[in-house]
Amino acid sequence: MNLISIRDIDSKDIEGILDHAEKIDNGKATVDLDGKILATMFFEPSTRTKLSFQSAAMRCGMEVLDFSPGTSSLKKGESFADTLKTVEGYADALAIRHPKEGAVRLASTVIKKPVVNGGDGGNQHPTQTLIDLFSIKKTKGRIKDLNITLLGDLKHARTMRSLVYGLGMFGANVTLVSPSGLEMDKKYLEEVNDKFGLNVKIDNKPDYSDADVLYVCRIQAERFADPYEAQSVMEKFRIKKADLKDAKEDLVILHPLPKINEIESSIDEMPQAKYFEQAHYGIPLRQAVLDYILR
Ligand code: NCD
Repeated sequence: MNLISIRDIDSKDIEGILDHAEKIDNGKATVDLDGKILATMFFEPSTRTKLSFQSAAMRCGMEVLDFSPGTSSLKKGESFADTLKTVEGYADALAIRHPKEGAVRLASTVIKKPVVNGGDGGNQHPTQTLIDLFSIKKTKGRIKDLNITLLGDLKHARTMRSLVYGLGMFGANVTLVSPSGLEMDKKYLEEVNDKFGLNVKIDNKPDYSDADVLYVCRIQAERFADPYEAQSVMEKFRIKKADLKDAKEDLVILHPLPKINEIESSIDEMPQAKYFEQAHYGIPLRQAVLDYILR
């Protein structure tokens, strides 16, 4: 089984994965994939996704093969397809990240082994969405009817695109706030609305007072055509502790990380800031995902 997009998986399967991850996190379940091999193929930088996939695999008894594009035969001109067919012969499942939208879907059609998408360009990042849904459930007890504000570069961030779909599926009230020009693609939002009747508000200015969850992401500078434009948005876009003075006491602040300068560092010390816990949940969640795709 592949996991390429959050659209590939229904709410029942998501709930199954979240419940399994909860049991793994509580020490009430373990995953035994002893003898299997996970290949990680990351064509874009990564800290959390790659390392937590590798750590999760090892905790399931798997061995890990890490493919490094920069020192591979791709440098001699070998094609992406031939590379995949080769790595497929050495592993039981592949976790792939690629800068081109659709590249991981394409990979899954070239090979037969299970493929999981670790992020394809500005398109999808399904396992991050599962971590985000898990983090929301864990900290707020539910997803339905929560007021969830997504704030940041909604045009380029795959985490946000995937997440809005997941939030639609589970009935959250979503407010989308982005610097002007970085709004989420309207067609995609229409798709989510047609499927789930997404209750969405769109704004350029955040109102922190009614949010139960504030989910922030960085400006995705590497996806801008003009690096100067990215720099100028980054300079203007920053949440300060003082901005949160009217926020609910039990607000939860999430972020897929890495954060650059969009969140003032003093916010890290606030009890509402849960992003490092969120990063930790990558381990049980990805263990549950490996179990899901390999069984
Ligand atoms: C995100 C990504 O790669 O899309 N990081 C992650 O996987 N935790 C977020 C980002 O890079 O902004």
